[in-house]
Amino acid sequence: MSLLVTKDLVKWFGDTHAVDHVNFTVKDSEVLALIGSNGAGKTTLVNLISGLFRPDGGQILFRDADVTHQSVHGRIKAGIARSFQLVNLFDQLSALDNVALTIFSREGKTRNLATLASGDSAVWDEAVEILRLFGLEAKARMLAGGVSQGERKLLDVAVAYALRPKLLFLDEPTSGVSTREKAPIMDTITSVVRSTGISAAIIEHDMDVVFNYSDRIVAMHQGTILADGTPDEIRRNEAVTTTLIGTTETR
Ligand SMILES: Nc1ncnc2c1ncn2[C@@H]1O[C@H](COP(=O)(O)OP(=O)(O)O)[C@@H](O)[C@H]1O
Ligand SMILES: [Mg+2]
Repeated sequence: MSLLVTKDLVKWFGDTHAVDHVNFTVKDSEVLALIGSNGAGKTTLVNLISGLFRPDGGQILFRDADVTHQSVHGRIKAGIARSFQLVNLFDQLSALDNVALTIFSREGKTRNLATLASGDSAVWDEAVEILRLFGLEAKARMLAGGVSQGERKLLDVAVAYALRPKLLFLDEPTSGVSTREKAPIMDTITSVVRSTGISAAIIEHDMDVVFNYSDRIVAMHQGTILADGTPDEIRRNEAVTTTLIGTTETR
C-alpha cells in the first residue's frame, strides 16, 4: 500500500522547473533511495513533502489524507519527519539533550536550557532508548559538537526518528563521512527502519550504498522522474546508466 503519493506535484523557481509534474510514491515499510544529479530536484521534492515549500501545483497525499496545504508541524504530527543535508543539531548540548528536546517538542512541552534537565523521566528513558537503537548510548553525555562526524550524522537521524515518524526522509545521511564509515551508518539506519516497520526515503549519491541498502530506487532528472524500480531494474535501466551512473558527478 502507498504511504505517500504525490500527484502532478509542481514547483518553479522563476524559469527553473525544479519539480515538474512529479508522481512520486513511498510504500509502507520500504527503504527507498532517491537519486539524481545535482539540481535534479530531490531536495525540492522533499521540501514540498515536508511542508517547507508551497507547491505551485499538484497534490500530496499521506495515508490517503490530503496534506498539500498542511503546516510543517501538522505534517510532523501526521508522521512525516526529515533530516537535513547539513546536520541540524545543537552542538553545545549533549547527544541525550538533543534527542530529549525533540521528544519534548513532539509532546508539545516547551523546555529551555535551564529547565531541560528537570522531570519527565519517561522522556529521558525514551531518549536513552533511541540513542541505544542508534548505537550512541555511550555518547549520551558528550556534546553533539564533540562526537565524530559519523556519530553526528547518526545523531541527526536519531533526532528525526525521535519525532516518531511513519515516513522518514533523510537527505544524504552519509555525506561528509569516510567510505569506511558509510556501511555501519547505513546498517544502523536501515536496521532501525526495518525493525520498526516505518518507511525511509533516502537521498544518496554513493551508488554502492544505494544498491546495497534500498528496496526501490527513484531516479530524478531535471525535475522529473526518470526511472523507478528495484535495484536490479535500475542497474539495467539505460536512461539511468547513461544519465547518472556513468557520470562521476552524481551529486
Ligand atoms: N530556494 C531556491 N530558490 C531558487 N532556486 C532553487 C531553490 N531551491 C532549489 N532551486 C533550484 O531548483 C533546482 C533543483 O534543486 P534541488 O532540489 O536542490 O536539487 P537536488 O537536491 O537534486 O540537487 C535547481 O536548479 C536549483 O538551483
Ligand atoms: Mg539536494
